[in-house]
Amino acid sequence: MGVVSPPAGDVDYARYGIGYAGHRRADPRIAARILEALGTASTVLNVGAGAGSYEPDDRAVVSVEPSEAMIAQRPTTPRRVVRAVAGSLPLPDRAVDASMATVTVHQWPDPLAGLREMRRVTAGPVVVLTFDPDCLDRLWLAEYAPDVYRAEVARYPTVDALVAALGGDAVVDPVPVPFDCTDGFTEAFYGRPEAFCDPGVRRSQSAWSFVDPVVEAGYAADLRRDLDSGRWDERYGHLRTEATFDGALRLVVSR
Ligand SMILES: C[S@@+](CC[C@H](N)C(=O)[O-])C[C@H]1O[C@@H](n2cnc3c(N)ncnc32)[C@H](O)[C@@H]1O
Repeated sequence: MGVVSPPAGDVDYARYGIGYAGHRRADPRIAARILEALGTASTVLNVGAGAGSYEPDDRAVVSVEPSEAMIAQRPTTPRRVVRAVAGSLPLPDRAVDASMATVTVHQWPDPLAGLREMRRVTAGPVVVLTFDPDCLDRLWLAEYAPDVYRAEVARYPTVDALVAALGGDAVVDPVPVPFDCTDGFTEAFYGRPEAFCDPGVRRSQSAWSFVDPVVEAGYAADLRRDLDSGRWDERYGHLRTEATFDGALRLVVSR
C-alpha cells in the first residue's frame, strides 16, 4: 500500500482537486501577460504548477508540484515534474532563466520563504500571479459569501510583503479579468453569477474548502434567491456587460 503524505499546502487536493483542470483552464489573455513577463528566458521553473496552466509551450519548463492528484491532471507531455515544495526547491542558485508561480503562493505554509527560494534559483525574472488581499472586497461575492472572503483575506500575503521577499524592486501590475475568463477563480465570474450555483465551480475554488458545508449551501441558496427575484441584477447587473473587471488580480515581476 502506498504512503499517503499530508498536503504540502493549506488545501487537500486529493479531496478538493477533483475536476480542477476542467474548471481552471489557463486564460489566453492572462497567459499572454505571463509570457511577456518571462521575456526571452529559455528555461522556466513553474512552482506550484498544479495541472500545468500557463506553462509556455515554447520554452524548456521544469514544474514543481507537491500534489499527486494535481500532477495526474496534467496533459501528457514530456515536461518534467518534480514533486517538491516551494520552501525548499531542489535546484542550485540561478539554475533557471525565469520562474513563475500562478495562483499558488497563498497556499504555501511560508509564502515569503518560497518566494525567496524562487529568487535564489532564478537568474532572470520571477513572475507571480496572485491576488491583493486588500482588494478582494471589490467582488460582490464578499457580501454573499463572507466566510469565503475572510478565508481569502487571511491566506494571501500582502503585496508589500511579497515584493520585499523578492528583493524589494518588483513591479506590480493589475491584471483586468476578462468577462469570459476561462480560469475559474472567483473573480472570473464577476458578471456570470449563476456559475456560483454550480458546486463543481465552487469546488475548484479552494477558499470554499474552508467554509462549513451547511454555510456554503446557505450562501448558494441566498444567491439563487436573489438571481431569481432580480435583486442581484438590480444591484450588480451592470457587471453583465462590462468587458473586464478591475479586481484584486496582480502580476508581480521581479527582475
Ligand atoms: C490553485 S492551484 C494553482 C495551480 C496552477 N499554478 C494554476 O495556475 O492553475 C495551487 C497549487 O499549489 C500547490 N501547492 C500547495 N502548497 C505548495 C507548496 N508548499 N509548494 C509548492 N506548491 C504548493 C498545490 O498543490 C496546487 O497544485
